[in-house]
Amino acid sequence: MSGKRPTILVFDSGVGGLTVLAPIRQARPDAAYVYMGDTACFPYGELPEQALIDRVITVITSAAERFKPDLIVIACHTASTLVLPELRARLTIPIIGTVPAIKPAAEQSKSKLVTVLATEGTVKRDYTAGLIRDYAGDCEVTLVSARLLAGYAEAVLRGETVDDSAILNEIAPAFVTKGERKTDCIVLACTHYPLLLSIFERIAPWPVTWIDPAPAIARRVVQLLGEPDNDTRAPKAGIALLTRATDWTAPLKRAFASYGLECLPTTTMDDSK
Ligand code: DGL
Repeated sequence: MSGKRPTILVFDSGVGGLTVLAPIRQARPDAAYVYMGDTACFPYGELPEQALIDRVITVITSAAERFKPDLIVIACHTASTLVLPELRARLTIPIIGTVPAIKPAAEQSKSKLVTVLATEGTVKRDYTAGLIRDYAGDCEVTLVSARLLAGYAEAVLRGETVDDSAILNEIAPAFVTKGERKTDCIVLACTHYPLLLSIFERIAPWPVTWIDPAPAIARRVVQLLGEPDNDTRAPKAGIALLTRATDWTAPLKRAFASYGLECLPTTTMDDSK
């Protein structure tokens, strides 16, 4: 085989979208990938809502013009819980968002104590409240806004060391006890957090099920684009852009390479317009 490879644009505020790209790439190894991290505006978690809407619309519409993707994945809960309606109204390309995996968490929880671990923005969103109302009526849901955690994930991917105690400070409020019951499912409602999963598992006060939305996103991609053809061509390296090109460091380039992505070091948001 075969025909034209579909191009998939994966977008996040920084490196978190890599955790979503990985299972998508496994499901569609034949596709061409463009990864975009809006590091110039990281973290999104603390941006005012209108500023975030305006920023994501600008970056995505310009990337869509430039790369002509067949599908866009907004691999960021903080953005998806806010900007999807406006983005879909402006673009005709299919767009998949990433939203807190509250439904599977509520279904899997036995103790019915579920935590949503997210950025300040995602915790505050009406969208998140709606998911809890619609899908977790039988659970007590604790919303934990982890202000520093996405930044720690960025640091770890850049090869820096972050103390376990700093990470524990962020995740400790996610572990709740009520009488005999304990939190047993924690929703990783920020795509950066799975990058720290092995640390979470090691330092957690007790074992829990960590719910990562990425496999479901990959299934949705296959629903929309179909299964890969019997494509015998080697997977193509994807390309990665950061909106602040000076954010590329040697360890970060190596980390992206391990996800099959080559950096475009000279590309900035300005010349992507
Ligand atoms: N990775 C993003 C998310 O899924 C947010 C990180 C940030 O920019 O605050 O929400």
